Amino acid sequence: MSILTATGVEVTYPGSGRPVRAVAGVDLAVEPGEVLGLVGESGCGKSSLARALVGLVAPTAGTVVFDSQPVEALRRRARPVAQRRLQMVFQDPYSSLNARRRVGDQIADALRLAGGGGRRRAPAAVGALLERVGLDPAMQTRYPHEFSGGQRQRVAVARALAADPSVIVADEPISALDASAQAQVANLLVGLARTEGVAVVFISHDLAIVRQVADRTAVMYLGTVVEVGPTATLWEDPQHPYTRALIDAVPTPDGSGRLPADLPGDVPDPAAPPSGCRFHPRCPLVTPDCSSWEPVLRVQEPGHAAACILAPDRGAPDRSTTGVPS
Ligand SMILES: Nc1ncnc2c1ncn2[C@@H]1O[C@H](COP(=O)(O)OP(=O)(O)OP(=O)(O)O)[C@@H](O)[C@H]1O
Ligand code: SF4
Ligand SMILES: [Mg+2]
Repeated sequence: MSILTATGVEVTYPGSGRPVRAVAGVDLAVEPGEVLGLVGESGCGKSSLARALVGLVAPTAGTVVFDSQPVEALRRRARPVAQRRLQMVFQDPYSSLNARRRVGDQIADALRLAGGGGRRRAPAAVGALLERVGLDPAMQTRYPHEFSGGQRQRVAVARALAADPSVIVADEPISALDASAQAQVANLLVGLARTEGVAVVFISHDLAIVRQVADRTAVMYLGTVVEVGPTATLWEDPQHPYTRALIDAVPTPDGSGRLPADLPGDVPDPAAPPSGCRFHPRCPLVTPDCSSWEPVLRVQEPGHAAACILAPDRGAPDRSTTGVPS
């Protein structure tokens, strides 16, 4: 059974003129112990969806259910419980950690909030958490600025683990790191999924990394999920033209590869999305019907669904095979 499920989730911001519908109806299910990649160009709504998944913003429509309970209700009625088991890791550990406090104290706070460890046991428990993320337990007396970027992100992960989470939503957790630290932090998160059964939602605009780490990948465009499926299937047989364009844009070892900007036009304004298929003004395969007909996710094969008029309809979406409710 899915540990985290989004159904019809919308996130709308007031905006200065028209409201901005940053997430425009997303269905997504996260399974225990999996790494689910979430990709898409800047502004497509990844962070807004992430915040809705962990209850940092209330969806303007739809529901998020964590471990059989609505996240909203969890937040209101049992905040510490929700905090314990549904954690978020951000891009910039500098801003998510308090620069003026020793990291050990910050992790100890998280342990206490989660109901574990008294003051006396804290150094040992904090040390064990630092070891779990590959850091020396003695580092708990240091301040955030005394770590490298990669180490600091490990500290942020250790603080999340203090809460014994079953889901970690990691929003661009490696984007601010250098290449070797990127691989280490990505491997750390994957290891948590593989060995400890923590589900990880891994948000990134870097498809090459997502290909390496994610069991399944969901592709977002302008607030909607346009394709979702096993990562290997998406790479070998993408069904949505946008997925294909993103994959084509990934640099190959010889340095070739186009940028998503090579698609005609810019990402449209989410306050005024195109009619019909939201991708139609930029789609290389656009048909006359595409501007009047809004495609929904349809099953391509078990576990793989795409929202495009050209993607064959091989059956009604089925949560048991796609992770996407119909
Ligand atoms: N607090 C806010 N108020 C108004 N609009 C917002 C707010 N946060 C995000 N937006 C808008 O919502 C849309 C989606 O933003 P979001 O940050 O979710 O995208 P993203 O996919 O995470 O982008 P990036 O890859 O740059 O992080 C964008 O058009 C953005 O400008
Ligand atoms: S529905 Fe039409 S415009 Fe949209 S992705 Fe498919 S072919 Fe392109
Ligand atoms: Mg973002």
